[in-house]
Amino acid sequence: MTQREQWGSRLGFILAAVGSAIGLGNIWRFPYMAYENGGGAFLVPYLFAMLTAGIPFMILEFTLGHRFRGSAPKAFACIARGWEWLGWAQVMVAAVITVYYVAVIGWTISYVGFAFTGAWGADPKAFFFEDFLGLTSGALELGALRPTVLGAVTLAWAITWLACVSGVRAGIERAGKVLMPVLFLLVLAFTARVVWLEGAMDGVNWLFTPDFSRLADYRVWVAAYGQIFFTLSVGFAIMIAYSSYLPARSDISNNAFMTVFINCGFSMLAGVMVFSVLGYMAARQGVPIAEVAGGGVGLAFVTIPMAINLMPMPVFFGTLFFLSLTMAGVSSHISIVEACVSSFMDKFGWSRRATASALCAGGFAVSLVFCTGGGLYVLDIVDHFINNFGVLGAALAEIVLLAWLCRLEVVREHANEVSEFAVGRWWSVCLRYLTPGILTLLVGLNLYGDLGTPYGGYGTVELLAYGWAVVLGCALLGLALRAAPGRPGFAARPDTTLRRTT
Ligand code: ALA
Repeated sequence: MTQREQWGSRLGFILAAVGSAIGLGNIWRFPYMAYENGGGAFLVPYLFAMLTAGIPFMILEFTLGHRFRGSAPKAFACIARGWEWLGWAQVMVAAVITVYYVAVIGWTISYVGFAFTGAWGADPKAFFFEDFLGLTSGALELGALRPTVLGAVTLAWAITWLACVSGVRAGIERAGKVLMPVLFLLVLAFTARVVWLEGAMDGVNWLFTPDFSRLADYRVWVAAYGQIFFTLSVGFAIMIAYSSYLPARSDISNNAFMTVFINCGFSMLAGVMVFSVLGYMAARQGVPIAEVAGGGVGLAFVTIPMAINLMPMPVFFGTLFFLSLTMAGVSSHISIVEACVSSFMDKFGWSRRATASALCAGGFAVSLVFCTGGGLYVLDIVDHFINNFGVLGAALAEIVLLAWLCRLEVVREHANEVSEFAVGRWWSVCLRYLTPGILTLLVGLNLYGDLGTPYGGYGTVELLAYGWAVVLGCALLGLALRAAPGRPGFAARPDTTLRRTT
């Protein structure tokens, strides 16, 4: 049997894990989530979710990958053969994310070019929705392929393919070592300049001024937990795959803490960066900040270009901002695709070259949907359902398996044996009671919300086709892949110490 690939160094692993965690979710999603959910008060549930769910989950997934030396399907199959489906369901969730996440990277790549020429002109909103995306009337009218988006998406897939096909050390680790330091430098340079602009501090204060009355609203907590799982890349097969390439002697707990703290610290920095820009824009236009701040895709592709128009050296700032988004997005995309690649290699014994090429080609074909005029609507629906039900549902199933059907203490002992410092009983308490309780509530509330009120005002057919069917499809494909015959030796060493006998 061939030796499993390994990271070349601890730093290489951390940069790859941080590269996965830090993504589009940190730069545009975190700031507007904080803004919409009580400003500074959002930080209370966010930090609470980070400590009680984010860190424990990261340690859990690092331990699973390290213990079973395999991707999510293999790890779960080793615990209990019947649970292999959960690993595959997580891989399918990751696969769905790859195909629309790459579309947003395509937009950011295009915007690096637009920033050079100032192509968005005086009306960035019309430029983005009409000229660039060629938005149709709805998700059922896809319209034609948009050549600029298509070209940029092709480039993004090519970069991801190159990293995955080159292997863990020569491809993924090298990409992290280049992309992460450059990203930090870009964001620091941008932030160091924009915080001195007129009105910038008002923007920052506005973001971090707490509105504690919002803490009584359960939706603020739902948003914080959802953000933590997505931003840390836990619950959808990535961190299990990445930690499966760790050498036997690896400090799991320290690595997990570092990954989480660097990621969440970076989110704060991104919040300062984005809201300094918004504060400046509000000051220049003489309007309250609430009037300039927007959510969703509009924040990065409409509001920021508007602000850049008003700034000194717009070409410099525009290029810096969209290059940062591109780097953050690409390193995350590589990790999401690798979660899929490693799973197929483990189960079917295919070569890395064949697996990465087949999956990237298939992913590229599906992502063409998001390069059409109706792509934004489809993306919006798929993203909502896959985050609210796919990621959180799969994380809940994982925690039920590990914390209730298995002996979680064995996992903790494994982590403690190899780590510099031991994690205490708080870890088990968080994973056994707190996190499953809150996740059950979140998935339940999301279900209640979506069944009661159609998401985003879309029609039933659109929501069934792009939302519910996609989530259901992930579960069904998980079952089908579990049933498919794998290579001999796949999950051949069941871990009986982990299973509860009583
Ligand atoms: N963790 C990645 C992000 O935040 C997926 O975008």
